[in-house]
Formats: sequence, structure tokens, C-alpha cells
Amino acid sequence: MQVGVLTGGGDCPGLNAVIRAVSRRSFARGHEVVGVREGWRGLVDGLFEPLGPREVSGLLPRGGTILGTSRTNPYRVEGGVDAVLEHFRGAGLDALVAIGGEDTLGVGARLYGEHEFPVVGVPKTIDNDLSATDYTFGFDTAVSICTEAVDRLHTTAESHNRVMVLEVMGRHTGWIAVMSGIAGGADVILIPEHPVSIEDACREIRHRHDRGKTFSIVVVSEGYELDGLEDAGETDEFGHVRLSERGIGARLAQEIEQRTGFETRVTVLGHVQRGGSPTPRDRVLATRYGLKAADLAHARSFGRMAALHGDSIVDVSLEEATSELKMVPDDWYEVARAFFG
Ligand code: F6P
Repeated sequence: MQVGVLTGGGDCPGLNAVIRAVSRRSFARGHEVVGVREGWRGLVDGLFEPLGPREVSGLLPRGGTILGTSRTNPYRVEGGVDAVLEHFRGAGLDALVAIGGEDTLGVGARLYGEHEFPVVGVPKTIDNDLSATDYTFGFDTAVSICTEAVDRLHTTAESHNRVMVLEVMGRHTGWIAVMSGIAGGADVILIPEHPVSIEDACREIRHRHDRGKTFSIVVVSEGYELDGLEDAGETDEFGHVRLSERGIGARLAQEIEQRTGFETRVTVLGHVQRGGSPTPRDRVLATRYGLKAADLAHARSFGRMAALHGDSIVDVSLEEATSELKMVPDDWYEVARAFFG
């Protein structure tokens, strides 16, 4: 068999570990592995590179993706889908392992549904917002980075009697904010799924200061809505606005300072959350997902995605995984809320 592998959407730590695992298991079966460059763009434009044992050596701890990535959507490129099918056939590929989030895997699900395209998926995103899996790889690393930031902000906040606002990624969901906020002991956590008003957030901060505390830490997810915040007009090929442009952290800090009178500063972590080496947990998860995806490709179980249920790696339909986003449930937010104020 010739197995193609692509990485699409925002990069995240662990992509290379998946490429390594897919390749190693496929080599062991006598299959060949071909890297598709830059996500779906590689199939639209025919950008391939053979992957052999040498190419996939040393990848386990390496961040980013050796294949490159893009947010290209073949359904938004004229003749894009035909080009994907043609280049796939032309390269002699029998199966494709697509490693991506809702957008990349959404394209895979659609191609499978409409053309029986032989694709299997691996759930990637620091946002952890894919359905049908308990966790995506990359999330644990992002949470570790954000938690370290919360820890570091504590000491400087305390020295200066300040409120510190930390803006973290997550686009439509607040998984990173909630998990790093709980782990770091944030005093208020603001996420899109469970809107707490700015006045209620300030009440929590005042309450904390009334109890004798002289500083507070607020973690806000980039997708949190605040009146008067404008989206930048530009969208990507999947219709997403660039949330970092809205500056939610800065606006929130301004509001908090005005309403409470406490000196407030903002830190925006940005792409630091996606960079660098994966945590051990993400390396292991990415490796298990990669092996499962190679097994699915070998068995020609297409239209499926590797997923984590409890401690087990299972497979689920790509359609189920991409039909809706996985939001932070009430009980998780309640854990966070127990420590507000
Ligand atoms: O989906 C992953 C993610 O990092 C989001 O959390 C964030 O909103 C977005 O990608 C940023 O995208 P870009 O890398 O295109 O700025």
C-alpha cells in the first residue's frame, strides 16, 4: 500500500509524533509512506515527498510539523476537489491519514461522504474542541504552557498588588482557559460557553480584595464576548475570523481597571501556546493515535477517526467527530467557579 499523510490547520505539538507512528507501523507492514505537503494545499497542488525511516527519525520530541501546514480548503478553491482526487490517484496513493481539527477533518468527512475518498483522521488541536474523542493531542502541552504562565503571573501580581489578565487561545471553546485556570488557581475564568458578565467578574475581584487579598489573576479565552468588541473583517478559507485581532485581553483589563480601580495588566500568550516540544502525555497520545490511524488505513476502514474514550483508543466516524464542536460542560466550569473571588 502507499499511505499518504497530511497535517492541516493550525500546527500543534505532537504532529511529528503522529507522522512517526503512522510511518513506523506502515513500514513494518511493508507499506510505503508519502508526505503530502502543507495540508490540503498539497493535494490541490500535487506537493508530495516520500517519507522513509531516515525522514521520520528523531521526530518524537519535535514541535511543529515536518510536512508544513495550511488552512487551504479545497471546497473554496476553484476545481479544488477535482484536483485533490486527481493528484491523489496520480501519486498512486491507496489511503490518506489526515491529521487535523474540525476544518481539516471536516474536508476529509465530506470527501469521504461524496467521493468515498479513502481517508482516516487523527484528532489534533490545542483547542480540544473536537467531538467524539475525550482529548485531542496538543491540548495538554498548551495547558502546561498556560499553567506555567498563570504561576509566573502570580508572583509578579503579588509584588505589585495588581490584577493580571491572561488571554489564552481556544477560538470557540474555553477548554484551555478552564483547565489552565483550574490548574493555576485563577480567581476568575471567562470563556465563551458560560458567559459571566464583566460586572460579575469585577464583583468577584472586589470580593477577593475585601477578604484581604491584594492581587487577582483572570484567565480569559480569546473567544469570550464583550460588548463593543469588533471582529477584524478578514476570515480564513473556513470562515474563521482572527480572534487575536479583537484584543479581548486588553479590553477586559481596561474595563477591570476602570470599574474596580485596581491597577491591571494584560498578557497575551498567542502562538507560544502552540510552539515547542510536546509533553510526555501528548507524545504518548499522538503515538497511540498514529498507530491506530495506520491500522485503520491498513484495514481500509475509511471515513473513521482515531479517538480516545477513557483510557482506550477506539475509532469513530469522521462525520460524528466533525458535526458539532465539543463545548466545556457545566460540571467542568463549576469546578473552576468554586474558586472564583
Ligand atoms: O485552532 C487552533 C488555534 O490556535 C486557535 O486557538 C486560534 O484561534 C487559531 O488557531 C489561530 O490561528 P492562526 O495560527 O491562523 O493565527
